[in-house]
Amino acid sequence: MKTLLFGVWALLALILCPGVPEELFEVSVWPNQALVEFGQSLVVNCSTTCPDPGPSGIETFLKKTQVGKGPQWKEFLLEDVTENSILQCFFSCAGIQKDTSLGITVYQPPKQVILELQPPWVAVDEPFTVKCHVPSVAPLESLTLALLQGNQELHRKNFMSLAVASQRAEVIISVRAQKENDRCNFSCHAELDLSLQGGRLFQGSSPIKIVRIFEFSQSPHIWVSSLLEVGMAETVSCEVARVFPAKEVMFHMFLEDQELSSFLSWEGDTAWANATIRAMEAGDQELSCLASLGPMEQKTRKLVHSYSFPPPILELKESYPLAGTNINVTCSGNVLTSPSPTLRLQGAPDLPAPGEPAWLLLTAREEDDGRNFSCEASLEVQGQRLMKTTVIQLHVLYKPRLEESSCPGKQTWLEGMEYTLACVPKGNPAPALVCTWNGVVFDLEVPQKATQNHTGTYCCTATNQLGSVSKDIAVIVQGNLCCPAARPRMETPQGFGILIQA
Ligand SMILES: *[C@@H]1O[C@H](CO)[C@@H](O)[C@H](O)[C@H]1NC(C)=O
Ligand SMILES: *[C@@H]1O[C@H](CO)[C@@H](O)[C@H](O)[C@H]1NC(C)=O
Ligand SMILES: *[C@@H]1O[C@H](CO)[C@@H](O)[C@H](O)[C@H]1NC(C)=O
Ligand SMILES: *[C@@H]1O[C@H](CO)[C@@H](O)[C@H](O)[C@H]1NC(C)=O
Ligand SMILES: *[C@@H]1O[C@H](CO)[C@@H](O)[C@H](O)[C@H]1NC(C)=O
Ligand SMILES: *[C@@H]1O[C@H](CO)[C@@H](O)[C@H](O)[C@H]1NC(C)=O
Repeated sequence: MKTLLFGVWALLALILCPGVPEELFEVSVWPNQALVEFGQSLVVNCSTTCPDPGPSGIETFLKKTQVGKGPQWKEFLLEDVTENSILQCFFSCAGIQKDTSLGITVYQPPKQVILELQPPWVAVDEPFTVKCHVPSVAPLESLTLALLQGNQELHRKNFMSLAVASQRAEVIISVRAQKENDRCNFSCHAELDLSLQGGRLFQGSSPIKIVRIFEFSQSPHIWVSSLLEVGMAETVSCEVARVFPAKEVMFHMFLEDQELSSFLSWEGDTAWANATIRAMEAGDQELSCLASLGPMEQKTRKLVHSYSFPPPILELKESYPLAGTNINVTCSGNVLTSPSPTLRLQGAPDLPAPGEPAWLLLTAREEDDGRNFSCEASLEVQGQRLMKTTVIQLHVLYKPRLEESSCPGKQTWLEGMEYTLACVPKGNPAPALVCTWNGVVFDLEVPQKATQNHTGTYCCTATNQLGSVSKDIAVIVQGNLCCPAARPRMETPQGFGILIQA
């Protein structure tokens, strides 16, 4: 078409100015299509077929320098090409000027590909946006952006259509958050395909970005007994249910202003923090639990009541009374208990008035040695009845006794068997026992092999700080009439000795 027009025009010129062959000249430019990277330079050769050209040059707003010259050409260096433009190359020949143009296309490879995920933490079922943009990429018509989740392509956009050509090099999509998306890798891939313009394919990718998905709709719940005893360790647990990811929940627990050190655990969609608390004084205290996950924070408070209730004090006026003396067993509430507890002393006839001690008067008998007395205190705290019990053991001091039941006066031994003298004295403090035989102290520890020689009367004396008592023990050794190898019987007919089996 161009050539046709030119032909017509040239013919016209010939008709108007016959005999001037120079007018059939041509002007051309090299290269005939220019693709220049942003900011780079370009060499242009402008030439003509006119044998003797007149004024010539190029017309451009770019910074130009003539770098070469021939009779029919001029070469220019164009520097700092930053915009698409059209350059005119002109030559005049015999007073006629002709020109030709060169389109310069500037391109910029996708050096930087930026991916943004908003918000960084997304609640389950809420939407989040995945946005990719490429600053300073050109030409936009040759660009394609692809959004990827892992290796899978989520969305692809090109900028071919003129309607969007004026847009920015960006793509935005909205995705609904699902638990499976947590920590998913998102990336953006950009391609600038200049093959149609005589260039090559440029590619660029964004760094990987991950999205965090969470679920945290329920407030934490504090598990603690509503009553705490002062000084006693108690386990407190703060629980968050229906939470995701449960293992990432962070907890802070406080008793009033003091932070508790807690132990975290999780299972399925539930997370816990357990801590040990110890109330230092009676009264109401606030226990609080702050749970956080990603951008979310939830706080729960609970009032706990602490009480002081030490066990009742059970006393004997005399710690070690002598048998026969009167003793006063007294039970009183601990002064640290508030209000005064109700006291019940085992064996005491009636309940004391509030605040008064419970007491019991008795005459200590020997049989009472080792007897236990117990006192139970009860207290009502916040509608709950609490109990504490104290037990005390009575020790009655009495003189030694050698009773027939534990120290028989007649003991029969079988010849050949081993025996020790059977005699256990009673008394408090525990008496020492010494037995003599023919004026010689008889060893009570080492078993004796019974011989006829052991027959006789032994004299045993039990002694403690309160006095002493003696008893004669007659030992009879019976000849072993049965076969000597026969198993001995455990018991002797009269009284009993202690038989040691070989
Ligand atoms: C410029 O183009 C002309 C015509 O094609 C050619 O003769 C000349 O050598 C070229 N100049 C350079 C420096 O290549
Ligand atoms: C995400 O990318 C990292 C690094 O390339 C890789 O180690 C990880 O396995 C990927 N995660 C998923 C869920 O694809
Ligand atoms: C924490 O307390 C909860 C509730 O009392 C209990 O189920 C859980 O086992 C405790 N965890 C640990 C590690 O003690
Ligand atoms: C026993 O002791 C209590 C408390 O000290 C006292 O009130 C009470 O009178 C005493 N009883 C006797 C009989 O001494
Ligand atoms: C008294 O209490 C003590 C210690 O609790 C116990 O060892 C003892 O057997 C009790 N005595 C009686 C007679 O119950
Ligand atoms: C028993 O008495 C006899 C004679 O009197 C004596 O020889 C023997 O050594 C005595 N045996 C013991 C164990 O005393």
